[in-house]
Amino acid sequence: MQLCMQLLHWGKLSRLQRVYAQMTDGADTFFTGVFFMGIEKNFLHFTVSLQDKGWQFETPSHLSILEAALAAGITLPNSCRNGTCRTCMCKLVSGQLAYRIEWPGLSKDEKDEGWILPCVATALTDLVVAVAHPVKAEREA
Ligand code: FES
Repeated sequence: MQLCMQLLHWGKLSRLQRVYAQMTDGADTFFTGVFFMGIEKNFLHFTVSLQDKGWQFETPSHLSILEAALAAGITLPNSCRNGTCRTCMCKLVSGQLAYRIEWPGLSKDEKDEGWILPCVATALTDLVVAVAHPVKAEREA
């Protein structure tokens, strides 16, 4: 339970884990937290499709969309990686996501229009995203 509460305090738990940690109380919290981490690590992967390029990559629920793209060898425009500079701003075409921070640097109107900040967003479903100028790393054969 102590480790689970520490992770909660450090913001290391995903939204699902935080909800579960808040719902549960007592000695089993640590073990259920570890159980849910295992479930997420093994099962909660979503596919992000880049609309214009037709490229796809997998995003596990514990990585931001930007982090998952970089891990897949796809560079999306980015700078601060903390939701303030808006360099990564792009359009969500379909799907649902959540933000790691409470106030990402988008206005309500921008959010309503579908603009997102992938550096601080995590996927809740498969996503289709329209990104200007993504770059795919050359893989050595
Ligand atoms: S990289 Fe700065 S807001 Fe996303």
